[in-house]
Formats: sequence, C-alpha cells, structure tokens
Amino acid sequence: MNDEIFPRTAAYHPDWIRAGVSGGANSLWLTEWLTDAMELRPDMRVLDLGCGRGASSVFLHREFGVQVWATDLWFDPGERAARARDAGVADAVFPIRADARALPFAPGFFDAVISIDSFLYYGTDDLYANYLAAFLRPGGALAIAGAGLTREIDGLPPEHLRDWWEPSMACLHSATWWRNHWRRSGVLDVDRADTMPDGWRRWLDWQHDVAPDNATEISALEQDRGEHLGYVRVIAHRNDTPTDPPIDRVEVAYESHPLLRGHPERHG
Ligand SMILES: C[S@@+](CC[C@H](N)C(=O)[O-])C[C@H]1O[C@@H](n2cnc3c(N)ncnc32)[C@H](O)[C@@H]1O
Repeated sequence: MNDEIFPRTAAYHPDWIRAGVSGGANSLWLTEWLTDAMELRPDMRVLDLGCGRGASSVFLHREFGVQVWATDLWFDPGERAARARDAGVADAVFPIRADARALPFAPGFFDAVISIDSFLYYGTDDLYANYLAAFLRPGGALAIAGAGLTREIDGLPPEHLRDWWEPSMACLHSATWWRNHWRRSGVLDVDRADTMPDGWRRWLDWQHDVAPDNATEISALEQDRGEHLGYVRVIAHRNDTPTDPPIDRVEVAYESHPLLRGHPERHG
C-alpha cells in the first residue's frame, strides 16, 4: 500500500532507506510528498536543511537532477559523503555540517530550501523565516514536511498522549499554525499548508518497521488515530519584500560623563 502511495520511494531498496534512518520518519516518503507539490528543475540549487544522514539529498538529486547542499548539525558529514559517493551522486550532493541558525552560504544563493522532519527544531523562532529567506533568491521556495499536529493543542496535551509527550514537543505544530507563522514574517507568501491524509497511519507503519519496540510512541499513535498527530507540509515562496539584514554587532564608542548628579568631579 505504501509503495502505491509513494511510487518514487518504492524504487529504493528498503535496506538502503533503513541504513540512512536519522529520525522517527521515513525521510523519502516525506520528501516525495513534499516535492509532489512543488516544481524542481535540474538547473536548481537546493539547500536540504537538517538532512540528517542525507537520504533525502540523494533522492532529490536522483529524482529531479537538482544540486543539493546536504546540510545538517548532528550527523557526521563524512558518513553522508560516503552515502552520496556510493549512490553515484557525489558531484551534485555536497555534505556540510552547519547550524541552521548560522548558515555559511551567500545571500540569494538557493532556488529552494527543503527541510524534512527538521524545521521544528529551529524554525518556530519568530525571526527565523526572515533569516532563512535571505538565502533564497526572490521567488525561491521554502518547503517543509514533517511530524506535526492535525490541530493545535491548547494547554496541556490530552490524557492519551501524556506517557509519550515531552516538554520539547511544544515545537509540534499544525499546518495552519505554520501558515500564519510564515505569513507574519512578511517575506514569504504561503502557497500551501496541509496535512497528509492518514499521515498517522504512515507514521505508525514506519514505527512498526524500524522501531517495533517503541511501545510508547506506537501506543500514542494508535490511541490518537490522527486526532492530533500527523504529518504536515508547508510550501511558500520568497516575495519581493527585502529581508532585514541580520544584526550580529552594534558598533559603539565610549563617551565619558559624570556618573552622579551631585558629584560632577567623578566620572564613570
Ligand atoms: C528528526 S532528524 C531528521 C533528519 C532527516 N531530515 C530525516 O528526515 O531523516 C532532525 C534533524 O534536524 C537536524 N537539526 C536539528 N537542529 C538543527 C540545527 N540547529 N541546524 C541544523 N540541523 C539541525 C538534526 O541534525 C537532525 O538530523
């Protein structure tokens, strides 16, 4: 069934996909779902942000011919490079270790930024969309897919999710939340923000496949049945509004003045 939903992914060997697992989701399913809704052409430069061990980066080049800057913080870029070399795509998939909040790229360099099951770790900051959009050419796409909510949770998580829930899961959000979040940045026009139909089932299928002992997460998904948990996808393009330049220093020169009103001789 999943092979029919994700026909591109179905061509990749299950062992190759499992050997590149870097999180709780099947990164190729999410990349396929995301790229179904956007246009990628072989002349494009793509930043795969938070790419983990880089399976999505290989997929992006193989499926669409794009050049990919496979950028991630936690995972070794050497292992990613070996994966790209073995897949025969080393001349078009470039592994880099970088923090998404301190990217080493030129302004306007990318035609698209794609982020699979990663953006929630840094992208909920109100100022982040403006920062990241500066690396896109005007009209370039910002596109994310990953674990999220089918609707926002007001206050504490519902009872049936509490065994699994951790405070850091506050970064899980709905497609509507992301739409508003990006719209408020002023520099992005949102083209699409939606939820994968039966995404919780795909999440559950993948857990059964790669982490069958993860009883807490499996039970949370089974009890929730998509009431709150699912996969979200958001696609926007950079509009013509100039981004605010990042502030990394404010130059000041010291001026000496009397410290206290009653003691003009004492300078601070
Ligand atoms: C759940 S994993 C997903 C990895 C991969 N995209 C996938 O779907 O398998 C989250 C990824 O986000 C990356 N990440 C988290 N914080 C980051 C940051 N500040 N800068 C760059 N990457 C970050 C981690 O390195 C990790 O690989």
